[in-house]
Amino acid sequence: MSNVYIILEPVFNVPGRRLAGKSQKEVLAVAFQRPKIALIGGGQIGGVLAQLSALRELGDIVMFDIVENLPRGKTLDIAEAAGVDHFDVRLIGTNDYRDIAGADLCIVTAGLPRKPGMSREDLLVTNAKIIKTTGENIKQYAPDSQVMVISNPLDAMVTLMQHVTGFPPNRVYGQAGVLDSSRFATFLAWELGVSVKDINALVLGGHGDRMVPLVRYANVGGIPAMELLERKYGNPFKAREIMASIVDRTRKAGTEVVSLLKNGSAFYSPAAAAIQMATAVLHDEKRVLPACAYLDGEYGVRGYYVGVPVVLGKDGVERIVEVTLNEEERGMFQHSVASVVKLIDDMRRLGFLTAAVDETLFSRPEHELKLIG
Ligand SMILES: NC(=O)c1ccc[n+]([C@@H]2O[C@H](COP(=O)([O-])OP(=O)(O)OC[C@H]3O[C@@H](n4cnc5c(N)ncnc54)[C@H](O)[C@@H]3O)[C@@H](O)[C@H]2O)c1
Repeated sequence: MSNVYIILEPVFNVPGRRLAGKSQKEVLAVAFQRPKIALIGGGQIGGVLAQLSALRELGDIVMFDIVENLPRGKTLDIAEAAGVDHFDVRLIGTNDYRDIAGADLCIVTAGLPRKPGMSREDLLVTNAKIIKTTGENIKQYAPDSQVMVISNPLDAMVTLMQHVTGFPPNRVYGQAGVLDSSRFATFLAWELGVSVKDINALVLGGHGDRMVPLVRYANVGGIPAMELLERKYGNPFKAREIMASIVDRTRKAGTEVVSLLKNGSAFYSPAAAAIQMATAVLHDEKRVLPACAYLDGEYGVRGYYVGVPVVLGKDGVERIVEVTLNEEERGMFQHSVASVVKLIDDMRRLGFLTAAVDETLFSRPEHELKLIG
């Protein structure tokens, strides 16, 4: 048994797989299983997630939705492209939560998207009810899984998911920062006329209009983006003005797409961002990516989920990576965290975060937002 384990050890680097108490036969059976990904929500983002997961052979996919037959139709449609795209994964659509049993990773997109004129915060009550049910079912049917939340308002929904499942905070996280950083990088690449592949851009904070694109750290192949803008315009004031407009567009990028689509929000890019995170977890890549993660004193914040760079691997959020912020950046970060705190207060007031929360996430006396230093 131990020899078998040594040979197959990498296979068990997949979250949700436990060796303890398994016979050799069972160990071998699990070894040849693909990871199982449960997509909770089979709407716009859920559909692209299923297709990208299949194309990249990330794992077997179960798509759950409450709309009858919708997930079966979508997964059947995607599966029928296997003859063209040559992927070997199983896709199942279901209206029965029991089918998510054994999932290594649940990706949650269940919930309403924005319509023009709505803020992400306007979705709070409706989506909190949905996340509560979703979390209860994940806890019951996939208790060893990790959970990546995408539903908005993101930071509040991740907090609620952790509360409802009671999973350790490192196993519950949210996708927003990868998308926001990708938007920032894309706009910089367009402005500078360079490949987006060479751009490093990072956005911190809550997933709202107060998010913090870190201008000082944005670079092209190691060269500060501001320096390149100054060279392009030959004028530091103009360069700052251009950067400010890129930052503003990044902050409002979700709203820009909503106003064009009229009947929903972005879905291709959020799905691509989530797939990057899912790959980091399922392949134990230890990628340094921004994620909505639980802070326990890092960045001077304790007891809240906020977007920061983390190391993502088989154990989910394995480490928080701290970035030195100057006074201005720190001020913007604190401003952004304050809007997350307001959302959490609203959820408490509305009864979504009950006493039980205080036993899991907010048990410590220092649970109130602390801005250290
Ligand atoms: N984090 C991000 O970066 C980001 C970006 C864009 C959108 N979003 C959010 O992601 C969410 C999904 O967006 P979308 O465009 O896929 O929306 P969508 O309306 O296309 O899909 C949502 C799906 O959830 C399903 N659903 C509703 N209640 C459910 C329940 N109780 N259990 C299971 N499924 C349920 C619906 O039937 C629908 O199919 C929205 O809340 C949106 O605001 C997040």
